[in-house]
Amino acid sequence: MEKTIDESVQGTALVLKDKGSNSRKLYIESYGCQMNFSDSEIVASILAQEGFNTTENIEEADLVLVNTCSIREKAELTVRKRLEKFNAVKKTRPHIKVGVLGCMAERLKSQLLEEEKIVDMVVGPDAYKDLPNLVQEIDAGRNAVNVILSKEETYGDVAPVRLNSNGVTAFVSITRGCDNMCTFCVVPFTRGRERSRDPLSILEEVNDLWEKGFKEVTLLGQNVDSYLWYGGGLKKDFEKASEMQKATAVNFAKLLEMVAQAQPKMRFRFSTSNPQDMTLDVIETMARYRNICDYIHLPVQSGSNRILKAMNRLHSREEYFTLIDNIRRINPDCAISQDMIAGFPTETEEDHQDTLSLMEYVKYDFGFMFAYSERPGTLAARKLEDDIPEETKKRRLREIIALQQQHGLYRTRQHLGKTEEVLIEGLSKKSTDHWMGRNSQNTVVVFPKEHYKVGDFVNVRIDDCTSATLLGEAVGYSENN
Ligand code: SAH
Ligand code: F3S
Repeated sequence: MEKTIDESVQGTALVLKDKGSNSRKLYIESYGCQMNFSDSEIVASILAQEGFNTTENIEEADLVLVNTCSIREKAELTVRKRLEKFNAVKKTRPHIKVGVLGCMAERLKSQLLEEEKIVDMVVGPDAYKDLPNLVQEIDAGRNAVNVILSKEETYGDVAPVRLNSNGVTAFVSITRGCDNMCTFCVVPFTRGRERSRDPLSILEEVNDLWEKGFKEVTLLGQNVDSYLWYGGGLKKDFEKASEMQKATAVNFAKLLEMVAQAQPKMRFRFSTSNPQDMTLDVIETMARYRNICDYIHLPVQSGSNRILKAMNRLHSREEYFTLIDNIRRINPDCAISQDMIAGFPTETEEDHQDTLSLMEYVKYDFGFMFAYSERPGTLAARKLEDDIPEETKKRRLREIIALQQQHGLYRTRQHLGKTEEVLIEGLSKKSTDHWMGRNSQNTVVVFPKEHYKVGDFVNVRIDDCTSATLLGEAVGYSENN
């Protein structure tokens, strides 16, 4: 799954292996970014200690949880539709309790309980360790809510359970929250202040995944380049740390090096990078270790300096180009992808053309593109009128997507004729005779199965492509196997 929002997995239910002594059933469904899917694994792990096994079937559930996303209005509307459905189930099975987790819980707080009365429990992203108490409350027939945001919580000590994964690729969160305050974004309000997780607990999780047969780990955070461990505490308080803490601090480049060295045969990816925080030592570390993949997700949101400023993105178009040039110089094979927002307030046709020309300069391998959606409480919502007509937003978005498709094809064509290492993740969506995996650049590669199996590192000769997929034939195991 890609960093942000993978449409094909939205709303999937998490199912884990049953624990024999557990008697109640939990149905948990996740929306939004990868972090939410990761958090659901933490929640299921906590509730497994409280007597809950997971189920895919709402009809047999005792507790129904929805891990929610607030990033755009559409994401919240989808969740509301689901809550309606759960309430319908409740009519025939009145003992079922329904809880909302994640960003919508944090944003709407007790509104969902008191005014709308559509749920029994509301739990924000930093309060999952309180679930045992909250569940007791709802068992006793009371509503339960905990939306307290924390300065410390990283769930570093909760071992997430990953039994419904492909067994090959996993996500490990390294930071929580975000301090960047991009003016369009609800995340700093719903996920709180930025804090980093103890590198030793990250290493433990990575080593444990390797022992369990996993071959690739993506380090997750809203803003991974900002990772900084100095013994705990908020990023913003680093200035107040002791000399000793400062001297032994671990930044993102160092963390990457630590994991790459700890498991030299494991592949590492990371997501998401923010251009204003990405440093040269990260790009250099990527180049030094062959097991750190050649792929950077580097959202820019707009190509116009005026709009970047209004978005509180703390870099200019020119600084972004310098960063891109540095990546290409140090790491010529590196793939780069973007997030883009069309129709931010006051965006003119000229600003939009700047976005298209920035894309033309970078020629991104992939992209995630959105029409601006005003989010209550953000600085943009408070200070700027959402003044771009829906039709204009949509047209600009279409132009951005069309250009990205051309660039995608331009990039996939560059792989033709090359032989590249692919980690097999599972069956191709279109054919059971073919495997699907990814190359280092994160491009999907499809090829005939032959005698290879899921989890193998295989060298694949690339013979053909579409704008998003490479097609080829395996020519043997790679040296990593
Ligand atoms: N740093 C985060 C960003 C989370 S939001 C990460 O790890 O990916 C993902 C993307 O959603 C953003 O990069 C932005 O392009 C888009 N987005 C955020 N708020 C938005 C809004 N109000 N309207 C439209 N798109 C938005
Ligand atoms: Fe949102 Fe900007 Fe942070 S997009 S998650 S405030 S980097």
